[in-house]
Amino acid sequence: MKKIIDCIEEELGAAFEKAGYEKSYAKVTISNRPDLCEYQCNGAMAGAKAYHKAPFTIAEDVIEKLQEREYIGEIEAVKPGFINIKIDRKAAAAYLNAMKESEGLGIEKAAAPQMIVVDYGGPNVAKPLHVGHLRSAIIGESVKRIARKMGHKVLGDIHLGDWGYQMGLIITELKEREPALAYFDDAFEGEYPEEAPFTIGELEEIYPTASARAKEDEGYREAALHATYLLQNGHKGYTAVWKHIMKVSVADLKKNYDNLNVEFDLWKGESDAQSDIPAMIERLKAEGFAHIDQGALVIDVQEESDTKEIPPCMVQKSDGASLYGTTDLATLVQRQRDYKPNKVIYLADKRQELHFLQVFRAAKKTGIVPEETGLSFLGFGTMNGKDGKPFKTREGGIMRLENLIADIEEEMYKKITDNRTVEEENAAATAKLVGLAAIKYGDLSNQASKDYVFDVDRFTSFEGNTGPYILYTIVRIKSILNKYAAEGKELAGLRIAAAKSDGEKALMLEAAKYNDVMAASYEELAPHKICAYIYDLANAFNRFYHETKILAEEEEETKKSYLALLLLVKEILEACIDVLGFEAPERM
Ligand code: ARG
Repeated sequence: MKKIIDCIEEELGAAFEKAGYEKSYAKVTISNRPDLCEYQCNGAMAGAKAYHKAPFTIAEDVIEKLQEREYIGEIEAVKPGFINIKIDRKAAAAYLNAMKESEGLGIEKAAAPQMIVVDYGGPNVAKPLHVGHLRSAIIGESVKRIARKMGHKVLGDIHLGDWGYQMGLIITELKEREPALAYFDDAFEGEYPEEAPFTIGELEEIYPTASARAKEDEGYREAALHATYLLQNGHKGYTAVWKHIMKVSVADLKKNYDNLNVEFDLWKGESDAQSDIPAMIERLKAEGFAHIDQGALVIDVQEESDTKEIPPCMVQKSDGASLYGTTDLATLVQRQRDYKPNKVIYLADKRQELHFLQVFRAAKKTGIVPEETGLSFLGFGTMNGKDGKPFKTREGGIMRLENLIADIEEEMYKKITDNRTVEEENAAATAKLVGLAAIKYGDLSNQASKDYVFDVDRFTSFEGNTGPYILYTIVRIKSILNKYAAEGKELAGLRIAAAKSDGEKALMLEAAKYNDVMAASYEELAPHKICAYIYDLANAFNRFYHETKILAEEEEETKKSYLALLLLVKEILEACIDVLGFEAPERM
């Protein structure tokens, strides 16, 4: 469906033209004086210079010529030349009824769906997931869902960090502890065991132990680096250990991401890109894109318009080893071959911005992806504790994701059982849903690039700009709708009538913005816009709820219209939290 603001703009544009002015001046925006009007147009002010006329005269001319109108209700020229607009109440109701009937609540899906890869999550295998990976997963999942909602074909790829030094560390430590294992016997010819020589619990102990030892012991570090090198060059036994590490870790990662309602289509990783590296490097050298600089092989990516120095993208170290950028370029080679994406969106800490700039430029310059492929980097800020420093446990250690989730769930469980609105047997499941909403909304409601403070007390509150408040509003609506349905009455097919009060109209106007907000949050890769929107929508609903007797309304037709509106608002809120990656319980 056309956006409601565009419907208004079109009517006003026709009037501008009729009055002899360019219709491009008829730009309509949401009013910044909601006490006076709902929408406004400042075009008369902008046109004053071009037409050598007082803006107020232009505004009056336009209003006089406004003939055919459906959406524009009250309209007024105010000095010095603003045009203030209120939407026609019947038109607003008709718009909402059309939304109810349209398939995706009025969303205008992409006419030409694009193939989009979202590269997010990016955990490093064998290292426990920590809160730093939380943001990538939460924001990426939302971006993926928003793009899908807009009609695109989207693949979410976890892009595991599964090929680095941490693997060499684990192999080295394992070898020290159990040298007799077949993996370390170069003469071994048989089949390696199916069973991994460690559990996830052991693995999570092995890695930090090895990492700490390598920092103290130079010989140990050398051994780990060498093990990494051998693994990356196909050592049979080490490859078998690596496969065990992968299997055990991926099972654990899946469990964690499931708990977060985060779902990847592709479980590829850095290791998958390795087979494409040699041919890529050969081509880059042969075609003159890469050259040796201080022993390393690099691609220059500086552009004339740059105001600061952009260092070259390094693709091979002097010892022949490849780097983070090499892997990302080879991954693009592969994505281009397998999916021909129109767009690739990367999520990572914003401190990786330069890395991605270099990779994107190198990929375009060398033709790894076509010029028109969209490569975007969505860099996110740090999740801090109340002290303004990166979030830690109470003891000052790195907070594990599982523990963070468990803490929030516990807090939610307390609140929910205190409220006594949920039966005991459902309390844990409800706490899980609401807890997840608290975490995700707490994160997503901030602009991704900003650092934010993870404030458990605030995030879990049922009041204010929080996930639980949004869910509480949905639950409230559900309970009204359920009561009506329990009287044996039918909700489907009810129609929304023109608003009877200002509160109802305000709620209707918020509801009508849904398709506009979804499109904008896709364009700008900005889930926080959806959060801001549902907060406004929830507030508008709660105001209406407090001012209006809904089920006690005596006039049957009015009551039905209220319920039709409630149903629509519920559907919008649910569609929005779905793209944010959480859901509402029946009660809370
Ligand atoms: N594993 C990386 C990290 O922990 C993030 C990966 C981001 N994606 C990419 N294609 N480089 O920082």
